[in-house]
Amino acid sequence: MRQSWQNTCTLALALGLVGFLPTAQAQQSLTVICSVQEEWCRPMAEQFEKETGIKVSMTRKSSGETYAQIKAEASNPKVDIWWGGTGDPHMQAAEEGLTEAYESPMMAQMHDWSVRQWKQTNGRTIGIYSGALGFAYNTKILAQKNLPEPKCWADLLNPKFRDEVQVADPNSSGTSYTMLATLVQIMGEDKAFDYMKALHKNINQYTKSGAAPAKATSLGETTVGIAFLHDHVTMIVDGAPMKAVTPCEGTGYEIGSMSIVKGAKNLENAKKWYDWALTAKAQALAVPAKSYQVPSNKATPISPQAPKLEDIKLIDFDFAKYGSSAERKRLLAKWDAEVRSAAK
Ligand code: G6P
Repeated sequence: MRQSWQNTCTLALALGLVGFLPTAQAQQSLTVICSVQEEWCRPMAEQFEKETGIKVSMTRKSSGETYAQIKAEASNPKVDIWWGGTGDPHMQAAEEGLTEAYESPMMAQMHDWSVRQWKQTNGRTIGIYSGALGFAYNTKILAQKNLPEPKCWADLLNPKFRDEVQVADPNSSGTSYTMLATLVQIMGEDKAFDYMKALHKNINQYTKSGAAPAKATSLGETTVGIAFLHDHVTMIVDGAPMKAVTPCEGTGYEIGSMSIVKGAKNLENAKKWYDWALTAKAQALAVPAKSYQVPSNKATPISPQAPKLEDIKLIDFDFAKYGSSAERKRLLAKWDAEVRSAAK
């Protein structure tokens, strides 16, 4: 066997064909960036490897950071598939031609909101889950510090919450960009930026990843954390003394997405992942990993722990506008200039 392989290689070298030889590695590998929680990324990679024999090289990275990496690598893509993370940077990548259009045979099994995301981007990204934004507080710390129970976005501006609130940086985190876009849609742009500047005084840290404030709230490192409600539920299910809040003014939500990178070196394997990740069976791996998003395949069972989107006062989120390249760039630059650098 080894002898015959050596012979083939020698022959190929002799013929100058080495560049055309399909290497075992190229056929059997896939590079994935995963923008959900590590705890869910891992079983996805393991199960896909088990079912297909394709070796997965997986990295966890926040949504905004992944967009930046894919853009930086556009002339020599290193990633094949980007799985998870909020839809806005996926949409921006689609508009900038950084991702590949693909129509999966799984399409008919998807919810309308998932297909809408796909249509809006001419097939370049698809919705894989959905979840609403909110905040949570640590009940023990709130009581110890004798702080009022926050119920609305407006309550987080109370000076009593100075340095008690945590949220991610919207440049790196899709969660935080979802908050920015949500506030702009609820309050109008001027008032939303006034709000974020005032909130800045109460922020103890802008984290890189969107779910980090939920973890910090569970540990009592911050009194209030802003993140997706399902990220708070993950902590509550683990016994954290936390209460999740749906802000009284209403809130925004994400359509977590998946895209194939343009020029992917392992395109066929990326398509295999894409089709597989849309199956109800693969999507069912979320709940054992304590990830409580609403899945995009109509047949995937929804966990009773998943926050019920129909019971939440959701805004009519304009994904096309806030996922557009120009708007996302403009709002992030404005946030850097006016919020991040504002006086405390
Ligand atoms: C968490 C949530 C996901 C969300 C992601 C965004 O993992 O569970 O629903 O899509 O955060 O991550 P980011 O770090 O970009 O805010």
